[in-house]
Amino acid sequence: MAPLKLDQTRSLFQRAQAVMPWGVSSNFRYWGDDTPVVARAAGAYIWDADGNRYIDYRLAFGPIILGHADARVTQRVTEALANGNLYAHTHPLEIEVAERIAAMCPGVDKVRYANSGTEATLHALRIARAHTNREKVIKFEGCYHGFHDYLLFSTSTTPGGSLGSRRSPLAAQNSSGIPSAMRDLVISLIYNDIDLLDRTVRARWAEIAAIIVEPIAGNMAAIMPAPGFLEHIRKLCDEYGIVMIMDEVKTGFRIARGGAAERFGVRGDLMTYAKSLANGFPLAAIGGSNAVMGTIEPGRMAQGGTYCGNAVGAAAALATLDVLAHTDALEQIQARGTRLMQGLGEVLTEAGVEHEITGLPAMFGLTLEPRVRPVRDYRDMLESNPALYEHLILAMRERGVEAEPDWREPFFLCAALSDADVDETLNAANDAIKAAKAVYHK
Ligand SMILES: Cc1ncc(COP(=O)(O)O)c(C=O)c1O
Repeated sequence: MAPLKLDQTRSLFQRAQAVMPWGVSSNFRYWGDDTPVVARAAGAYIWDADGNRYIDYRLAFGPIILGHADARVTQRVTEALANGNLYAHTHPLEIEVAERIAAMCPGVDKVRYANSGTEATLHALRIARAHTNREKVIKFEGCYHGFHDYLLFSTSTTPGGSLGSRRSPLAAQNSSGIPSAMRDLVISLIYNDIDLLDRTVRARWAEIAAIIVEPIAGNMAAIMPAPGFLEHIRKLCDEYGIVMIMDEVKTGFRIARGGAAERFGVRGDLMTYAKSLANGFPLAAIGGSNAVMGTIEPGRMAQGGTYCGNAVGAAAALATLDVLAHTDALEQIQARGTRLMQGLGEVLTEAGVEHEITGLPAMFGLTLEPRVRPVRDYRDMLESNPALYEHLILAMRERGVEAEPDWREPFFLCAALSDADVDETLNAANDAIKAAKAVYHK
């Protein structure tokens, strides 16, 4: 196979490195010397600076639910822009989006906006603390809730050795620069370990403001919640007056119209939304019950921001939610994703590679050569072969299919993906796994 031509990409990346730390705007985008530089995107495809086309399963880490540059979204945004973008006043578009979110998402009576998932979880946590007058938060290992200091502990990039024992997990700081005092506010537990959660809450409930959870672990290969896990969080929160925050930044408007709250029938007191809400435009939202959202109060409990509810984001959300509510976009994703999950499973089985596929057709992960099965938590996931996965994904990329080389990040699907794209992906995967095995076992 002839190697891809990447001259423009490489020269642009050198320029980027000269003016941007590591040549990227977010650490997660750094792939080493061959970090991609992307020039454009449309539908299910992206093109790099050399004009190479890839079927895109990263989808910007999830937001692109309809497809890149969706004409319906672009039109709404363009119309909105003609009237300006920011007013620092309530405006009709944001009212309508809030009404839609409340209508689509179980458990949402009221909505406040933010601009990113990070901001949404930051605000949700403050609301929970104000509501309960308590300070600590339970999070689960391998779950990621954004870049702010309160929750950047024991995420899916934490080395296994820093996590402590299964009996007494440690909250491991994920970055230099986070004040050490923050660690005292975080109780890190193990995803799907209902006993550990139960023991911890019953012993320490009086200090706990919130339990925050990714309802599908979208930052660790889309591991599913074990039966009863979300329900038990709900039950403990009800029993002890703790605020349940379902972080739906990845699942919201993707795995079902009403996100995980609809799919699993469990409502958080607060839900955080971002990514698929606006098909890639920066709009995020915190939604929740009247009781908990009622904690927000001018002059007493602060929430807001200059860009919150901006018209461009709201217009993009309105167009996106329109399509999701009134077309079979999510059913198309479900159908193509089911074929893809099955097909990838067959390719790997035929190649003799042990694997586990986790998640749902709209977002799923592959763990190769797992030594612990089923894969239920972050510690299980670490007992696998990420290097072979990376070889596989990079070999697929050479064949025109892009997914994230880090196995913890799921494949995402968009409605623009066609059956022919799925076929092309499976052919690429079939060749790529052979190439990957050859390189890996060399
Ligand atoms: C579950 C979850 N919460 C929060 C965030 C942070 O969102 P953002 O990158 O928009 O700040 C992410 C990002 O991937 C996420 O997956």
